[in-house]
This record gives sequence, structure tokens and C-alpha cells, in this order.
Amino acid sequence: MAVKACIFDMDGVIVDTAKFHFKAWQRLAESLGIPFTEHQNEQLKGVSRVDSLEKILAWGNLELNSQKKIELMELKNKWYLDFVAEVTPEDMLPGTFDFLKSCNEAGVKIALGSSSKNAILILEKLQIIHFFDSIVDGNKITLSKPNPEVFLRAAREMELEPTECVVFEDAISGVDAAKSGGFRCIGIGDPQILSKADRVVESLANIHLSEL
Ligand code: G6P
Ligand code: MG
Repeated sequence: MAVKACIFDMDGVIVDTAKFHFKAWQRLAESLGIPFTEHQNEQLKGVSRVDSLEKILAWGNLELNSQKKIELMELKNKWYLDFVAEVTPEDMLPGTFDFLKSCNEAGVKIALGSSSKNAILILEKLQIIHFFDSIVDGNKITLSKPNPEVFLRAAREMELEPTECVVFEDAISGVDAAKSGGFRCIGIGDPQILSKADRVVESLANIHLSEL
């Protein structure tokens, strides 16, 4: 079936902010005395802020009350936003702008499917928000990836079926979400980590719309 829309995850697909999430979570984990590795970080990619904190606390066998958890999430987000403040269109990952442009020129719709509550701010900083027909972010969904809600909602907002859309993801949880929602999924990153994707490429510079 011809592709009618591309649904992009944001962090790690469109923009190199995944490293900022990692640094901010690592700083938080260290402040709590919890070791935190890049391998563990793979399990946080695509996962909501609250679910990420719960995973880190579980790794450290730490139980905290809900007020303390809110404070920690605010602190992590503050550190993360300090990095985001420096984001410019230069931080877009390779191929992003050209891929969005080719979708636009071919009449293929464009959506965002991100768990982040900071998505609109970042799309504005990248100066690409005008490309998007639908933006589904962490403020609109109740169930985090690997639940397919974020992508199903994007398809619904565009009045399309999952089979008419292709999802682009850099996270294991995001690939799982796309596949369980009935979408084709292109992984961005390491083929060994994203083995459940239909195809894996290094970046959007390594794939053309005509290949979908
Ligand atoms: C994305 C990222 C995660 C992040 C989540 C929530 O899915 O991959 O690393 O935790 O969004 O982001 P937020 O900006 O709302 O804290
Ligand atoms: Mg991502």
C-alpha cells in the first residue's frame, strides 16, 4: 500500500536530544547513589518521564513518596532544559530537513509521535514545526511507549489507517509500539538493538521516501 504519512519520533530521530536526556538522568541517578549505564539508558528511550524515574528508582531499590518523585522529575527536566536552551536547527540529525521537505513535496503527511512533553518547544527551536500535520506528544497521551497509543492517535488525527503510515523510531519501546499498533517501522540506529524494526538505517540521510 502506498505510504500516505510518515510519523516521526523526536528525540534521537529528528534531533540529537537523546544524549541530553541521558546526561540529565545520569546526573539524577548519581545524586541518588544509583549507578546508571548507557545500556540501562536504552531501556529509558521512548519511555515517559515518570516511567523513566520509576525504572531508575527500581534499579536502585529506592522507594520515595510522590512529592519527592515530583521534585526529582522537575529537577531532571530543569537540567534537560538547560541543554535544550542551546538547541538550534544545526542540531537536527542528518537528513531530517531534506526528508521532511521531500514528504511535503510528495504530498505525504507528516506527524510527530513523541512521549516528550517538551516536543513543541524543540520543534519550534528547530524551526520545522510548520511541516507537521499532526503533533502527538507526551501532553496528549496517557499510555507511554511500548503502548501504541501515541502512533494510533497520530494516524487518527490524520484520518489514516496504521497500514498507510510508516513510523521512524530510535527506541526499542518505540519499535515495539509501532509494530503492535500495526505500523511499518524504520529503525534509526543500531540494527542489533532495533532488531524488531522492518528495516534499520543509520539516519534519515540513509533512506529516501521512494524506498518506503
Ligand atoms: C522521549 C525520550 C525519553 C524521555 C521522554 C519524555 O520519549 O526518548 O528519553 O524521557 O520523551 O520526555 P520529557 O521531555 O517529557 O521529559
Ligand atoms: Mg526517540
